[in-house]
Amino acid sequence: MRDVIPTGMGPDSEYLFARMTGLTLAWTEPAPGSRILDVASGPGGDVRSLAAQGALAVGVEPSSRMLGLARSLALEGEGPIPGLVQAWSDALPFADGAFDAALCKGSLDHFDQPEAAIAEMARVTRAQGWVVLAIANFESAACRLARGIDTLRERAGGAIRPGRRMYDVPSDHFTRYDLDLMLQQAGRSLEVERVEGISLGWGFPGWGRVLERLPDAAARGVVQALGAWARRLPRHADVVLLAGRPRASSTSP
Ligand SMILES: C[S@@+](CC[C@H](N)C(=O)[O-])C[C@H]1O[C@@H](n2cnc3c(N)ncnc32)[C@H](O)[C@@H]1O
Repeated sequence: MRDVIPTGMGPDSEYLFARMTGLTLAWTEPAPGSRILDVASGPGGDVRSLAAQGALAVGVEPSSRMLGLARSLALEGEGPIPGLVQAWSDALPFADGAFDAALCKGSLDHFDQPEAAIAEMARVTRAQGWVVLAIANFESAACRLARGIDTLRERAGGAIRPGRRMYDVPSDHFTRYDLDLMLQQAGRSLEVERVEGISLGWGFPGWGRVLERLPDAAARGVVQALGAWARRLPRHADVVLLAGRPRASSTSP
């Protein structure tokens, strides 16, 4: 995770992760007894949070280490224990329409078969349920601007900075997403009804240091104001959240 978080946990990162998590979970419409699947649940924070709201939450994860960590954290906590199942996203071991909602947060770009995973999420979600996807946008305004500046600098003979640039896809990602690709892949299995951007400027070189120099309240205000723009400008936002209903062809009659 460290590799993907270029600015550490400054106010921009705090805003981005809090909003990404809050909105993703809210869009699944958790309610007591609702059946919600988290695909690639990792350490399980989201399934624990959904279970604490009364949902019958199930996390799916292929990694034994992640599942072990998720189980330990659930047992250490005081809330209800969510279901945790070992499986790949492109072969979900659940019946058609078994869930009221499915979510996949920050993981689709790690999958070798993301379209198959979205099709599986649509299949196991009931008709009129929600499939919610949160994905990093590598054509965000921050990525494009940083890339443009580096290109100009390199053309002018400036030194090429070593290491991964914030607009380079991390080595553990299979897919470099932008809004069009997200809509294209999601649209094959989902009727996409909601699209929203989360945060602007995250990871832009030097931006974290600028925010650090501001008084806390001012830094938070700037980040929130940019966040308000990002909501309406998902194409330029750092993360895109989209939600859709399973297409009729994705579920059994
Ligand atoms: C960045 S973590 C995200 C974890 C979690 N969703 C969160 O927001 O904390 C990505 C997760 O994707 C999982 N993963 C990678 N490839 C997968 C696949 N094909 N199917 C399901 N999960 C996969 C990894 O094991 C890892 O736990």
